[in-house]
Amino acid sequence: MEKLKNKKKIELGDWQTPPDLAIKTCQILLETGICPASIIEPTCGKGSFVLAALETFQSAKCCFGLDISDKYLAETIKKIQPFQNCITTSITQGDFFSFSWEKQIASMPDPVLVIGNPPWVTNSGIGSIGGRNLPKKSNFQNMKGLDAITGKSNFDISEWMIISMLDYLKGRDACLAMLCKTAVARKVLLYGWKNQMPFEWCSIYKINAQQYFDVAVDACFFVVKLGQRTPALHCKIYSDLNHNSFEHLAAFKKNRLIPDIALYEKWKHLIADKDEPFKWRSGIKHDCAKIMELRKENNCFRNGLGERVELEDEYLFPMLKSSDLANGEITSINRYMLVPQHFVGQQTGIIKHNSPKTWDYLQRHSDLLDRRTSVIYRNNPQFSIFGVGDYTFTDWKVAISGFYKNIRFRLIGPYEGKPVVFDDTCYFLSCRSKEEASLLYEILSSQAAEEFFSAYIWWDSKRPITLEILNMLSLVKLADFYGKSALIENVHQDKESHQLIMF
Ligand SMILES: C[S@@+](CC[C@H](N)C(=O)[O-])C[C@H]1O[C@@H](n2cnc3c(N)ncnc32)[C@H](O)[C@@H]1O
Repeated sequence: MEKLKNKKKIELGDWQTPPDLAIKTCQILLETGICPASIIEPTCGKGSFVLAALETFQSAKCCFGLDISDKYLAETIKKIQPFQNCITTSITQGDFFSFSWEKQIASMPDPVLVIGNPPWVTNSGIGSIGGRNLPKKSNFQNMKGLDAITGKSNFDISEWMIISMLDYLKGRDACLAMLCKTAVARKVLLYGWKNQMPFEWCSIYKINAQQYFDVAVDACFFVVKLGQRTPALHCKIYSDLNHNSFEHLAAFKKNRLIPDIALYEKWKHLIADKDEPFKWRSGIKHDCAKIMELRKENNCFRNGLGERVELEDEYLFPMLKSSDLANGEITSINRYMLVPQHFVGQQTGIIKHNSPKTWDYLQRHSDLLDRRTSVIYRNNPQFSIFGVGDYTFTDWKVAISGFYKNIRFRLIGPYEGKPVVFDDTCYFLSCRSKEEASLLYEILSSQAAEEFFSAYIWWDSKRPITLEILNMLSLVKLADFYGKSALIENVHQDKESHQLIMF
């Protein structure tokens, strides 16, 4: 019974908003000059937002609330009883995805405020518990953008709901104000700007979701004002629900969403050109940590299945993971990776002759390795890995974790005579010498580099630092900026003499 209740809670994203948070958000809107005649709460639940909005906005003439769960509706109706003499109210049971929003919105006067907290659940989250609270395909035949969203393997229900509401509000004097994941707010902004939606202004006020909802996710109060004025292609970001907490301005530039446009403008002269000689790489992808990653114990190795194994040295390399790069000093390494190929697609049969114990070990665990589901392993030699090449085996590297919420580069040299490798949560530059690595490390640890990357990083992302962002910065231009053009000269000399640079 309890299990069934939990499943329903997850499927409906049923985390009701605490009344004090609803009141704070309405206060913010009032301070911004929002004076709605109509209030709409599309998933009103127990009515925190309906009540807070009616208490805050004296201008309101009518109010409409919808929720799929009828168990909450009586509570909401009771809460708003005191307003029923002066305001037309309607609290209705219904499914957002099949409700006739066009008709409802057309019957309500401008200015309209759509406010609430749609469910924070993804389609795959719903799928994994066998739920069905999803948009039906037939609903959005005319909504090409939404079609693209539902075509994605994973999307947030709230992203779909917010975008469809914005679509319905086109041409109206309206404001949409929703609590949602910050990642959803970003996707909606990008969608809106790419589709020329009439956003007069937008704001993101970060909230502490742990405090209010006991969930560990980056969330915000997302506000979009729609109207007739020329659309503004920027969004103010606040660190909390307070107008004094303005942090920075995000903007739509060159078809992408730039988190900090001031830093972008300051450092755009350092953007890499097409022929940038330095290239960031991902660490090795093997999708089988239990077998391919081993811990050194005295002279033996222990794999992820807890087996003690003896292997030849040839295919084993000291390895670092994201957590090693992001935290503390690296004084010793006791994790090793089995790297059976030197380049992608290399035949692996040779291991049998070079290192028979390693071959036996791989054969013994071929059931797990052959079961790797990613399509990249199909039609490739047995035990294949990806993200491997000459660049993997250089002694000196500069590396960073893609997962952690800090910009911390590490200078990595060989360990016990072997080059260090990384797993695929890390990125690195492969360097030709210790001197080059030291220089790159020095300039990457500079204020200019930190500010440059900060212009592009959304810290609420699962993987905030990406290859795309790293490769955006020209290390040649950065070296020049810091008067270290010797690096540039060396690189150009190498280019001119047609030496192969192993990046
Ligand atoms: C995060 S809760 C928020 C409730 C309320 N808006 C608040 O802020 O307290 C999400 C609400 O969405 C409702 N809901 C979920 N799926 C729905 C759907 N398809 N149609 C209408 N309401 C839905 C749930 O019943 C739940 O009350």
